[in-house]
Amino acid sequence: MDNRIYNFSAGPATLPLPVLERAREELLSFGGIGMSVMEISHRSKHFAPVIEGAVSGIKNALGVPEGYEVLFLQGGATLQFSMIPMNFLGDGPADYIVTGAWGKKALKEAGKTGSANVIYSSEGSGFKTVPSQDELEFTPGTKYVHYTSNETIEGVEFPYDLTADGLPVVCDASSNILSKPIDVSKYSMIYAGAQKNIGPSGVTLVIIGEELLSKVPDNQHSLLDYRAIASKGSMLNTPNTWGIYLIDLVCRWLEEQGGVSAMETRNTAKAGLLYDAIDSSDGFYKGHADPEARSLMNVTFNLPSEELEKRFAEEAADVGLDGLKGHRSVGGIRASIYNAFPEEGVRTLVDFMADFAEKNG
Ligand SMILES: Cc1ncc(COP(=O)(O)O)c(C=O)c1O
Repeated sequence: MDNRIYNFSAGPATLPLPVLERAREELLSFGGIGMSVMEISHRSKHFAPVIEGAVSGIKNALGVPEGYEVLFLQGGATLQFSMIPMNFLGDGPADYIVTGAWGKKALKEAGKTGSANVIYSSEGSGFKTVPSQDELEFTPGTKYVHYTSNETIEGVEFPYDLTADGLPVVCDASSNILSKPIDVSKYSMIYAGAQKNIGPSGVTLVIIGEELLSKVPDNQHSLLDYRAIASKGSMLNTPNTWGIYLIDLVCRWLEEQGGVSAMETRNTAKAGLLYDAIDSSDGFYKGHADPEARSLMNVTFNLPSEELEKRFAEEAADVGLDGLKGHRSVGGIRASIYNAFPEEGVRTLVDFMADFAEKNG
């Protein structure tokens, strides 16, 4: 295993070991061509199958129906917070559902462009919940409805694909894309920074429906124009070729593992082990999210004191369990267990938690 440890980082995060090994093998000579994939033109005959493989890999994994474009952009999911309103908000309004820090940031950027309504926010109660579908009321004529399917910092996840009475739904799925099956046809746009479940940082996946694409204003700046980028197959400028290459490899790995349905089974089992450890700790560990909104990807919890949380993260790191410190804005502990994170690592953490609680409880 080359001294690899268990990496609970929220992103960039653990990549599948076979993907890293393949990339290592091909680093100096990609497919035997005598050049690295990083050294060849994005318009070369060698790169064409790589980007085609990545696009079809995503389409196959998620069952993307006809009428959608799969794009690889730059600027992270954060640039999407601005690009979405710049392309689709117009004279507004748009509806925002805010269930955590990332949704709040998306809302802030939209507000710089035009009118953004908050139709649900769980901020007042500490971002522990998600709304049920029935609870939501959409503003008539809203240009789009934006939500974050998994809030990475708080560990709060929607257990369903949101619908909005036929209004366009736009979803930030950065931290749970490819972790389970979703019904893409319910969305007008899904976007995700690649660095959790898709590949390395520096690529943003956008899956966008033709109807929404047709609404891009004619005078949009080229590199902020989804339609222009789509018309050039994500090659309006030089894309992140290395990142796209790794996405292609991750998609192949995912298929070999049985696809997103198999991932959901595994992810449910992995998260279940941790939530059981929390729930059976007699209150030593306290889960952050309400049980019905618990994330399968980011398991967040607190210990009786900040001092114990600090010691927990430090002692865990000493035994090869890295990256467990919660996000600086909320503290506590966060175990990010994306697709590539092995169940064995979760079991090791569960054992560590039991020992730590016994010694410090
Ligand atoms: C849910 C979510 N949205 C957006 C972002 C921002 O992504 P990026 O750093 O790629 O801009 C993150 C980053 O962790 C995230 O978890």
